[in-house]
Amino acid sequence: MNNRTSLNSWQALVEHAKAMKSQHMNDLFAQDQQRFDKFSIELPSLLLDYSKNLLTEETLNKLVALAQETEVTHWREKMFAGERINSTENRAVLHTALRGSTADDIVINGDNVNEQVQATLNKMQSFCHEVRAGHRQGYTGKRITDVVNIGVGGSNLGPQMVTEALKQFSDDSLKIHYVSNIDGTQIAEVLRPLNPEKVLFIVSSKTFTTTETMLNANTARKWLVSAAFDQHAVAKHFVAVSANKTNAIDFGIAADNIFDMWDWVGGRFSLWSAIGLPIALDMGFDKFLAILQGAKEMDQHFLAAPLSENAPVILALLSVWNCTFLGAQSQAILPYDQALHKFSAYMQQAEMESNGKSVSWQGEAINYATVPSIWGELGINGQHAFYQYLHQSNNVVPADFIGSVESVTPVKGHHETLMANFFAQTQALMSGVNESQVRADLKAKGRNDDYINKVAVHKVHQGNRPSNSILMKRLSPHALGSLIALYEHKIFVQGILLQICSFDQWGVELGKGLANTIQAELASNEINSQHDSSTLGLLNFFKAEQQKVT
Ligand code: F6P
Repeated sequence: MNNRTSLNSWQALVEHAKAMKSQHMNDLFAQDQQRFDKFSIELPSLLLDYSKNLLTEETLNKLVALAQETEVTHWREKMFAGERINSTENRAVLHTALRGSTADDIVINGDNVNEQVQATLNKMQSFCHEVRAGHRQGYTGKRITDVVNIGVGGSNLGPQMVTEALKQFSDDSLKIHYVSNIDGTQIAEVLRPLNPEKVLFIVSSKTFTTTETMLNANTARKWLVSAAFDQHAVAKHFVAVSANKTNAIDFGIAADNIFDMWDWVGGRFSLWSAIGLPIALDMGFDKFLAILQGAKEMDQHFLAAPLSENAPVILALLSVWNCTFLGAQSQAILPYDQALHKFSAYMQQAEMESNGKSVSWQGEAINYATVPSIWGELGINGQHAFYQYLHQSNNVVPADFIGSVESVTPVKGHHETLMANFFAQTQALMSGVNESQVRADLKAKGRNDDYINKVAVHKVHQGNRPSNSILMKRLSPHALGSLIALYEHKIFVQGILLQICSFDQWGVELGKGLANTIQAELASNEINSQHDSSTLGLLNFFKAEQQKVT
């Protein structure tokens, strides 16, 4: 079957969605006191409550039928077994091997995957010890105090998100900095307070060709060499994480200082590999292993739990239900935890770069809505910014609320207030408030009829806005590993349900190629008049203004 829309389960969901659109979650909760028990899953590290979605047991059964008809379990086995399910790039997808979740006999391109993973972990472990214990020294013999990770996309977002999220678990033996932007402001600001004698650079790039990363790495190298007056300093102060050893060596990085990456790890799924080196340097190798353990725990759940009790499968089915069948176009990620302030940005790449596509893996145009745009912010800040839209706009935005039972940074009274808001917001989005309730409330507050007639309609909240609540017991390296793997597997299942190859990213190529052409034009006096008039006008304006300044 090459078109999802002709599947029986798909058609059944189309019909069911028509009926469900006239339902309100308030009624569903009133009719069924067991809703929370039926629609929540408790795992060792977290609880997922998805009862505040517009669904019934019948919906769930129909969604599970879709997962069965699209052979999710079969595809799951293929992924874990190292089959080349990244069909457009002819690659296996084995980020699960990085946390020890695959069989021992998987051989890719002649190499045993688990042996490669173990060898790299061993190398990371001794490197972390060497740097953190001060045994690794810079060109003047001083100990390394600062690590600057240079990378972009998957070679930045995952490690940076995790480093920020687990700050409380760092012993501060090193300071970790991230440079991803090609805008020189970022690298200049990062380097300004640093002493070149004490800095270690990690050039993190699977391909070792990414323009932004290469430019930043060259700038960092110049900065170092101009202080050291010695090219040899590069070998002491630079390491690389890359699948492209040749380019890394050409850059000046010693072969021993290159940590392996493999084509079977996608950039946005790579924080478990040596791309996670800055995480391990920050908090110690044992805690990095705890992150991998947490992810492995989620892998095991994903592999073993029946579809209807499988948290990643449920999240994927709900995304498809809310977006493809009920028409939502975006999805908010709302962490109620300061430590997770980069989580929404991380999720943007994870889901949108994976599944933001409109051609099926068979190369046919997809004629149904695929994944939503992902956006979000810390919950409390969002409440005072865009929650107005979540509650009262005409667009329904399903939201994932993420929080913890226990705070890692307890400050008296804060955590309860924070979480009271978490719970209140999910309830308000679901239940809303109708006009007669608004009127009664205003009357009880002693408001006069004129005032009530004027404002009542503005205070109505329709409710019926779906949300998932994810509650970790406590944010820890282990729990964060589980949380990230939960979403990774959700994205994989989403791709299968929608018939999308989740592991390529051709959509980033066109702009990259054009930027190279335009960069050459900006550097010369030749601007190709083949550009459209907008681009041409912008380029001419830019050059003319630039000439006035110089
Ligand atoms: O933006 C496209 C992309 O290829 C991402 O998928 C990837 O994570 C990022 O660029 C960085 O790539 P590399 O690690 O090869 O520098």
